[in-house]
Amino acid sequence: MKLLPKLEMNNGLATLYVDGKPFFALGGELHNSSASSTTYMREVVWPSLRQISGLNSIIATVSWQQIEPGQGRFDFTVLDDLIADARQEGIRLVLIWFGLWKNGASSYVPSWVKRDPVTYFPCVRAQGTQLGSRFGGLGDYTISPLCEAAVAADARAFAAVMAHIRAVDTDHTVIMMQVENEIGLLGSARDYSPVANAKYLEPIPQVVAEAYGVSGNWEQAFGADAQEYFMAWYYARAVQTIASAGIRELALPMYVNAWLQQDPDRAGAYPSGGPIAKMIKLWRLAAPSICLYAPDIYLPDFEAVVAEYSADGNPLFIPETRTNVSSAAAVFLAFGKYNAIGFNPFGIEDLFSPRSGGFDPAELAALNIDVSAFSNEGTATYLPQSYCLIGNMLGIIARYRGTKQMTGFYQYGDAEGCMLSFSKYDIRIAYGRIGPGKPPAGGLVIEVDADNFIFAGTNFLASFLPKKDVEKYVGYVMIQEGKYQDNVWRPGRILNGDEQRVGLRDVPQALQVEVFQY
Ligand code: DGJ
Repeated sequence: MKLLPKLEMNNGLATLYVDGKPFFALGGELHNSSASSTTYMREVVWPSLRQISGLNSIIATVSWQQIEPGQGRFDFTVLDDLIADARQEGIRLVLIWFGLWKNGASSYVPSWVKRDPVTYFPCVRAQGTQLGSRFGGLGDYTISPLCEAAVAADARAFAAVMAHIRAVDTDHTVIMMQVENEIGLLGSARDYSPVANAKYLEPIPQVVAEAYGVSGNWEQAFGADAQEYFMAWYYARAVQTIASAGIRELALPMYVNAWLQQDPDRAGAYPSGGPIAKMIKLWRLAAPSICLYAPDIYLPDFEAVVAEYSADGNPLFIPETRTNVSSAAAVFLAFGKYNAIGFNPFGIEDLFSPRSGGFDPAELAALNIDVSAFSNEGTATYLPQSYCLIGNMLGIIARYRGTKQMTGFYQYGDAEGCMLSFSKYDIRIAYGRIGPGKPPAGGLVIEVDADNFIFAGTNFLASFLPKKDVEKYVGYVMIQEGKYQDNVWRPGRILNGDEQRVGLRDVPQALQVEVFQY
């Protein structure tokens, strides 16, 4: 029996163990509907994924609607095929449980739930904010997180899924579970159903009062943000019920992802009650079974988001991000500087499959995502190379994670470069020019010892500076290009003379550099 995948924290550093060894997901999330059909997966998705060298995992969906078509009647056929096919392909699976909520809506619940609004009651929006009329039509039908019958039904189904995975997946092809998707209420800051209205007037839970040093009801305790805190508490309690029911059957790491706080900055314009960064503290109180909060990053400032979602001991797992060519550079920042355990551009099957792609611009507008996120020119060329490069040096990255000897960078906005600081030298990184279909600058740098460095990444030029107070020059002992293969350096050219520069072009590459002072 193989060891169960687990997430371990050591001195604030999270590591995901798969088969007892550290595992870093160089992956991608599939489109929402892909995994609902074995035929589609076999004809369209797997052939595309096979071409993404370096890919070691994918995030695929399991929908309640498909799994439990009649109450208590389960059909695991498609899930069984997915697990068997992934095992055969040598790809690990992170599964999303599309249960009660997906992007603030309840579109994936079975028909027997949809057709019984009395037992499974929906959220009621505040007058004037019905059915997305203010925010673009998403989240129309949303079952209330205060509906205990709905949460219990979801928990039973999720427990059945986990029990089934335990029975069929003894090799642990499935390594993690995402519980629901981009939770929160759209179209209103809070639920105005009768149950919610009554609960809103109750005193806040004791544990919340103690953690925040506040008291009274939600409005007395949280003022203008009360509605969002209220929703966050009840969504998180619902998730705790669902996740813990699953964990009792199979204790895989379980996480929750977030549609981020963004413009317009009003809870309800982004899902109210979801685990946006400022709500993680509350979510942790309410949902202790959740191991991490994961950002879906479509906002342009990637680094600002990963900085927020790797703070306070939150393990960084990126379940969704832009699939455009910037992903081939951003991945170096995630693993080099923010100790990521996983990186997943969304709609990964599009890279080599013309049949799967395509977003309706209106749909993206409703999701508050700009179209450039999925303009994939160049991604199929560069992302697999970044994955191969990083994938072949994961043992080295694992050794330096969480130390001052490793950092990373990623070009954003008008910045022309950045400064990195190590024990004996500072390194000035000048970003290259951004061209269509080419990755921006992105890289990771490891200080092996005071004079020896590893660079990996794309599109930058590095120059070494002595520390500010040192009146010396820095020269190169040797610059060598090469490749890692299973963490072993396979040297290439020694760059000297005309080529003596610590520069990487658009093709993701590695250099080993030794410097001296004189
Ligand atoms: C975020 C959601 O979590 C995904 O399921 C998907 O809808 C993407 N947006 C589409 O961009």
